[in-house]
Amino acid sequence: MTATVIDGKAFAAKVRGMVGEHVATLKADHGITPGLAVVLVGEDPASQVYVKSKGKMTVEVGMKSVEHRMDADVSEADLLAMIDTLNNDPTIHGILVQLPLPDHLNSDLVINSIDPAKDVDGFHISNVGLLGTGQKAMVPCTPLGSLMMLRDHHGSLSGMNAVVIGRSNIVGKPMAQLLLGDSCTVTIAHSRTKDLAAVVRQADIVVAAVGRAEMVPGDWIKPGATVIDVGINRLDAPEKGEGKTKLVGDVDYASCAAVAGAITPVPGGVGPMTIACLLANTLTACCRAND
Ligand code: GUN
Repeated sequence: MTATVIDGKAFAAKVRGMVGEHVATLKADHGITPGLAVVLVGEDPASQVYVKSKGKMTVEVGMKSVEHRMDADVSEADLLAMIDTLNNDPTIHGILVQLPLPDHLNSDLVINSIDPAKDVDGFHISNVGLLGTGQKAMVPCTPLGSLMMLRDHHGSLSGMNAVVIGRSNIVGKPMAQLLLGDSCTVTIAHSRTKDLAAVVRQADIVVAAVGRAEMVPGDWIKPGATVIDVGINRLDAPEKGEGKTKLVGDVDYASCAAVAGAITPVPGGVGPMTIACLLANTLTACCRAND
């Protein structure tokens, strides 16, 4: 079997197009422009790339984009004061603090200082609790984008066996909650799971979110299963030339695509959907604020 490739890039463009149409209507009919503020602490190169890309796409859908860069040695008090200002700014509907933060800052404290209604990452403890109890929450963008692709491909997910590999607060745990909400039978596997290969072989849906390059081989995949690859890992690629790198996911794409029924590529799968969902969450936050 050769897997259907789930085109996250095209799907994300469609989602951004729909968000853009809503933004235009909000502006024309109500004079409201959704605003997203991104706070970046320090100089981490990968974070700078993500933040730049988020800012560009925010503007492209017609939203206001604000970027606050703070020095790597910023005090916690100064960062909390910045968040407080954004919490009280009526032109800002979404706030995202780019992670990871430098070690001297308490990430939980910082995230929980964001107004939950503006927490477009869905990381605030209130949103985590709302999602876990099936209530109206801000849903983390990467799991939300992954769920949208799964629903689009399968229609109903009811009764499917889903294995999420990885138990992070950002992806693994919320992904499991969302799949449970769609009536999957969900297993969260992790580094201590016994016989991971056997666990993954039971899955109709595999979500790989471990952050280890090409860790899942094709012989772990049940024939016909759907594979969602959340990983973004940079590997040296000497075959492309001196000093060149390539992006790979958490699954070994070639061997998994030979067995799976459907698979997301890296790049061009989950990544673009994450930013599209960030914009969708910002629009949602704006609409709720003006309800
Ligand atoms: N760093 C890597 N992924 C994310 C994300 O989804 N949100 C934030 N705030 N930081 C990240």
